[in-house]
Amino acid sequence: MSGPILSLRGVTKSYAQGNAFDRLLGRDTRFVALDGISLEVARGDIVGIVGESGSGKSTLANIAVGLTKPTSGDVLLDGEPLSVLMRDHAGPWRRRVQMAFQDSSSALNPRKTVSRCLTETLALRGVPREQRETEALAMLELVGLGAELAPRLPHELSGGQRQRIGLARALAMKPDILIADEPVSSLDVSLQAQVINLLSRLTRELGLTLLFISHDLALVRTLCSRIIVMCKGEIVEQGACLDVLDRPSHPYTQLLIAAVPKGIAGRRKPTSAPSRGHAQDSVG
Ligand SMILES: Nc1ncnc2c1ncn2[C@@H]1O[C@H](COP(=O)(O)OP(=O)(O)OP(=O)(O)O)[C@@H](O)[C@H]1O
Ligand SMILES: [Mg+2]
Repeated sequence: MSGPILSLRGVTKSYAQGNAFDRLLGRDTRFVALDGISLEVARGDIVGIVGESGSGKSTLANIAVGLTKPTSGDVLLDGEPLSVLMRDHAGPWRRRVQMAFQDSSSALNPRKTVSRCLTETLALRGVPREQRETEALAMLELVGLGAELAPRLPHELSGGQRQRIGLARALAMKPDILIADEPVSSLDVSLQAQVINLLSRLTRELGLTLLFISHDLALVRTLCSRIIVMCKGEIVEQGACLDVLDRPSHPYTQLLIAAVPKGIAGRRKPTSAPSRGHAQDSVG
């Protein structure tokens, strides 16, 4: 199919806030977490989603994966609205779009061992019983974890290990789209590089489409082909990753980049009058 694999059209999410008294008086008590988001993601794209805390990145991810209902607007997978897919093909939709969650401690069932968590996911994908153990171990290896973790419960794992189990579980579904919400934030630098290389390889080899939510602009720069910059529930800028990071046009993007200590994002600060084609200082 040639069109975008994932589209959002005018997606808005608002939450009730304030107390019953406010509501009784008809005061406007809605908090708008996402405000008319429209975007298109092409198959095989690696899209970085950046923006300050509270800008709506996780809300966007949860809506795209079908966990949160938008207040208005549409999410489409290969041009088909999520509302229709959820009704008629809920299973395939869930398999095709997977999420690695930001909060790894609440994303895993505390009573299920690593092995069970992975083998159950493989069963959902239809992997025959006799192959599940082996494939679960292969998934562990894929995210740089050893077989000794298989019998452990989530509370017996470190934060970084839990995060990678979440990623392994999402990948075990062989999704078309992976939405990874801060997937490497609690990993040390060498493990971050390992997971980033893995994600990059999977997008190349399997044609995986990746939405990569991160506060780390250097990682986004290394991994992503496109970037979406969010501020207060809106997309303020989007485009080719290097273009936006080297020549940000929106003041908020400029601020976001300027806030990164020099050298870390592998670029000059935007205040140094970026011009087309300047040499990069270094790439992170
Ligand atoms: N269930 C909810 N009820 C009310 N407000 C919510 C709810 N979930 C999220 N919000 C609000 O929506 C806004 C966006 O939250 P979201 O989690 O999407 O931000 P984020 O960009 O992922 O932030 P972070 O970088 O800290 O993870 C925040 O102000 C948050 O407080
Ligand atoms: Mg978040």
